[in-house]
Parts: sequence; structure tokens; C-alpha cells
Amino acid sequence: MERLYYDIDLEKVPQHLAIIMDGNGRWAKSKMMPRTYGHKKGVETIRKIVEESKRLGVKYLTLYAFSTENWKRPKEEVDALMNLLVSYLKKELAELDKNGVRILTIGDISALPKVCINELEKSKEKTKDNKDLTLSLALNYGGRADILNTVKLIAKNVKDEQILIEDINEEMISKYLTTNESVDPDLVIRTSGEQRLSNFLLWEVAYSEFYFTDAHWPEFDEKELQKAIYSYQNRDRRFGAIK
Ligand code: FPP
Repeated sequence: MERLYYDIDLEKVPQHLAIIMDGNGRWAKSKMMPRTYGHKKGVETIRKIVEESKRLGVKYLTLYAFSTENWKRPKEEVDALMNLLVSYLKKELAELDKNGVRILTIGDISALPKVCINELEKSKEKTKDNKDLTLSLALNYGGRADILNTVKLIAKNVKDEQILIEDINEEMISKYLTTNESVDPDLVIRTSGEQRLSNFLLWEVAYSEFYFTDAHWPEFDEKELQKAIYSYQNRDRRFGAIK
């Protein structure tokens, strides 16, 4: 395969890659530019990483685009992020569809501006039969909020005598989470030097590998992605067992 910067085994690429895209603001600041400039560049990275993930054979790519805590940012920045989401979908939908990318969301998108919801629904509908890569955008997503919602749904079903308490198991919980269309992540990447999960995929990462890089999201690229996958392939995943 062309453009392999690292000796990656293409048979063992993570099936599900999840990314915490951090550092847009810091990157922009280092260039004496406004934070929104960093987000704009961040969208370009998304474009590159979606394409490269597909090329390498990743099946599920989940991107942390907007957390339940991100509402605390200044209104102008929240608006800018929402506008970028809409323009990204408008601009990329045809190409994503052509490339066999299926678009999904995780989190509660009902709280997003109407124009975002419309564009997301349109994108999901248009790409629903695509099978090459599932791109899940985490929007108004929080791991705890998703678990809390699941607890409520299951409790209601117990109350309505739809399920027995004895039947509640891990598989059932996974099915109620908004991440239920993907397998658990094999690899979680966080850019920009921070080493924490920030409420991302709490239930799903039980056995995931983690990779941290100092690169800010706008400077993360195909080579950085391959480096992360190469590192992942040199880990010894035992899932609690012994070899
Ligand atoms: C982190 O940078 C990034 C985000 C808050 C969200 C990522 C969003 C985008 C790349 C653009 C919009 C999304 C889509 C799906 C089109 P930061 O602002 O936290 O950086 P900092 O930690 O340096 O301040």
C-alpha cells in the first residue's frame, strides 16, 4: 500500500478508532489567531483523518466534536462550532457518500440548533446503506449522560414489566447506549498532550488501548494517525486473561 510511514499490519488495524480532537484553541493561539481559526483547521484534519482511516481499513471512527460540557464556552464559539458542523456536512456529504461512509451521531442532538439537526438527519438518511466506514459524530455527548439515559430507559421498562431485573446484563446496557451501532473502541487517541477521558465513551472503553500525542488537532495528520496505529499494534491486549 502506498503512503505507509510505519510498518503497519493492515490485517490488524483497529476496527473502531475513537478520537478526542483537542488543541484547536491552543494551536490557534500559538499562531496568534482566534480560536475559531483553530476549529476551522480542525475540520480540515477531520477530512484527512476520515479518508485515511477508511484507506487503512478502520470500520468505525468516532469523533468527539461537542461535549455536554462544551455549552459552557462563549456563545460565539459555540455558534462557530455549530456553523462549522453545518458547513462540513453540506460540503462533504456527497464525497462521504461516494466513499461509502455512513454518518451517525452519538449523544442527544435534540438540543442542537434546528439547522444542525436537519443537516444531520439528511446526512444520516443519505448514507444509511454505506458500509465501508461508519463515522460517528459525538455531539452534545457525555458518557455519564448516555449511561444515565440508559438507566432511565431500563428502569421504565422494568416498571412497565417489559423486562425483569434478572435479565439486565452488560449486553443490554450496551444496546441502550447511543453508541449501540458500533463495537467497543479498540483504540482511543487524544491529541494536544492532555491525558484524560473528559467524559468520552466511559462504558465503552473498558478494554480500549489509549494513545496520547502532543500534536494539536489541526496538526494531526495521516502520518500521526499511522504512528498511533503502529503503537497500538505493538501492545499486548489480554482482556484480563493471560497469554
Ligand atoms: C478541541 O479544541 C476541539 C473541540 C472543542 C471540538 C472539535 C471540533 C471541530 C474540529 C470542528 C467542528 C466539528 C465538526 C464535526 C465539523 P479546544 O477548543 O478544546 O482546544 P484547546 O483545548 O486548545 O482550547
